[in-house]
Amino acid sequence: MPMSLRMTQPASPLAAATSLPIAAASLLRPAHGDADLIGEIAAGLLAPAAHCSPKFFYDGLGSKLFEAICELPEYYPTRTEAAIFARHGADMAAAIGGGGTLIDLGAGNCAKAASLFPLLRPAQYVPVDISRDFLLDAVERLQQRFPQIAMTALGLDFSAGFALPASVRAERRLFFYPGSSIGNFTPEQAVAFLRGLRDNAGADGGLLIGVDLVKDSAVLDAAYDDALGVTAAFNLNLLRHLNRLIGADFDVTQWRHRAFYKADAGRIEMHLEARAAQTVHWQGGSRRFAEGERIHTEDSYKYTRQGFVDLLQRAGFASRAVWTDPAGWFAVIHADVIAD
Ligand code: AVI
Repeated sequence: MPMSLRMTQPASPLAAATSLPIAAASLLRPAHGDADLIGEIAAGLLAPAAHCSPKFFYDGLGSKLFEAICELPEYYPTRTEAAIFARHGADMAAAIGGGGTLIDLGAGNCAKAASLFPLLRPAQYVPVDISRDFLLDAVERLQQRFPQIAMTALGLDFSAGFALPASVRAERRLFFYPGSSIGNFTPEQAVAFLRGLRDNAGADGGLLIGVDLVKDSAVLDAAYDDALGVTAAFNLNLLRHLNRLIGADFDVTQWRHRAFYKADAGRIEMHLEARAAQTVHWQGGSRRFAEGERIHTEDSYKYTRQGFVDLLQRAGFASRAVWTDPAGWFAVIHADVIAD
């Protein structure tokens, strides 16, 4: 089915979900209006321990910097997961079966899912990503390569919860969530998020998810603080994005990247640290930052294999198979919805 792109501007992803024609490939706008967006970001910046959601990493440049991170020798998750798919893809396809509805969360350039199309042979492909323009380009190219697969692109912030539009087939929905992005939620948030997927999946639905596993802290530290400084640029670019989004006046040269593994919490933390005391202004607000004060920008949780299987169970998914690399650094897990 050829793809046509429709632009709609819903009040929320839920509103959008009910307004789309069946079989139209549609692109939805992010959930927030400007006032909501400024309020959300300002609340984080004004909190006693300032913080900002990692979803604001991904403007056009941020998405490209993340692609560059995935090429770094230190950033093992992407290549390790790719090796697991290359080695075990046929087993995964045998377990999952063809003709389903492949819903790709955080699809980006859609390359991971596309590499599985010949094995999974989905009837419909539904890439979902907050970065609309990036997604639009990728899906247009992909539709030309795979004209037999119906494609419905959704540009929305799925991290806040969503309901799928009627244009997404109800049969055999498989949520595809590679890349270990589940680690960017706290474990409690991850359970709530996965429950939401379960509710959208239907009784015959499932999940294929990539999970980064606990390992030596030196490996983890290097993966998030690489020698070329690409992860530092990715982290700092968030400030430029905030400047555009909320009219802030962050001076990127006055901040430095910090990233480290906290073994007791089982997570990498990323922060932006003020190089000098400064006041930052934005539309409707400002904050004074002392030298050394930080904005917490990301957590990346690492799980044990059993720990994540247990987490899936709490979310209403039964793990069917776990594939890992020889070093046991990364896992790809296939799980089915547990019937009520
Ligand atoms: C998207 N996510 C899985 C990445 C991670 O590893 O947590 C984001 C990232 N942050 C720094 N490097 C990569």
